[in-house]
Amino acid sequence: MKKRGFNKIGLVGAGNMGTSIIEGACRKGILKGTAIAIYDKFPAKARSFAKAIRGKAAHSLEALIRGSDILLLAIKPQDFPDFAVEAKKFLEKKQGVISILAGFTVEKIRQGLGPVSVVRAMPNLGAKVGGAMTAITGQDKMLLGAAAEIFEGCGEVVTLPENAFDDVTAMSGSGPAYFFYLMELLTDFGVKRGIPAKVAARLAIQTGLGAALLAKNSADSCAELRQKVTSKKGTTEAALKMLMKKRFGKIFQSALAAAARRSRQLRAK
Ligand SMILES: NC(=O)c1ccc[n+]([C@@H]2O[C@H](COP(=O)([O-])OP(=O)(O)OC[C@H]3O[C@@H](n4cnc5c(N)ncnc54)[C@H](OP(=O)(O)O)[C@@H]3O)[C@@H](O)[C@H]2O)c1
Repeated sequence: MKKRGFNKIGLVGAGNMGTSIIEGACRKGILKGTAIAIYDKFPAKARSFAKAIRGKAAHSLEALIRGSDILLLAIKPQDFPDFAVEAKKFLEKKQGVISILAGFTVEKIRQGLGPVSVVRAMPNLGAKVGGAMTAITGQDKMLLGAAAEIFEGCGEVVTLPENAFDDVTAMSGSGPAYFFYLMELLTDFGVKRGIPAKVAARLAIQTGLGAALLAKNSADSCAELRQKVTSKKGTTEAALKMLMKKRFGKIFQSALAAAARRSRQLRAK
């Protein structure tokens, strides 16, 4: 990677997100598999991922930490306290930690790990296909730059102040599931009306994809696109009027507020 001094990356947690992020960065040539070590509670997972990227499986957390410039922390929030007790023994000030734990602030991570540099990142499941949206925050500019490079390997990156992170978690962190739900509802409607399930799913998914591509490549905002596609007294207007009458917008805003609240609760324990 371009940022000097951060050559060796240690992945803690070879799960969904950690492996997707590292795979993406390797695929784009941002990271070299040979510069990556992996540690997981379940050693076979670390070995199998290490084999896939030509990296190295660390036999212990101590070995991983001692051999890494940056740790990419990709374990579940509830596993952090036990991890921190062990990791704190080996971490040194010159090392950096990039955490993707939902809800956990930079300060909370530093409280657990001691005086290391910390960058907090909130990616999403799009990382699996190189289509993630990741927000990053932190004080250490070098580590922030390194994090931006890594996450650009699996999608797009924005830098935001940390006080936006519970809301970002609600919007883009959890966001893929809302779109899955909408596509699921479209599919269910088609199936109930007699369209074969596979065809109904294709109608829903390709429609979602087309709308996202249009929104991404258009100078118009999403609201403008919606208005343009809604002809007076047409079918789209009939559907949108019903959604508005049933206060879908308000319900959805409450759902997002619930996700942001949950993000805050995760660090309170
Ligand atoms: N999934 C998402 O869409 C998403 C989006 C944004 C952020 N995140 C954040 O990403 C993090 C990881 O989520 P995920 O979905 O990738 O979880 P995951 O698939 O469960 O991966 C976590 C991995 O870490 C392992 N692990 C647990 N404790 C460990 C320890 N002390 N040392 C080493 N490895 C350990 C787990 O092993 P076991 O399975 O044996 O416990 C598992 O293999 C979470 O903090 C989450 O908040 C997730």
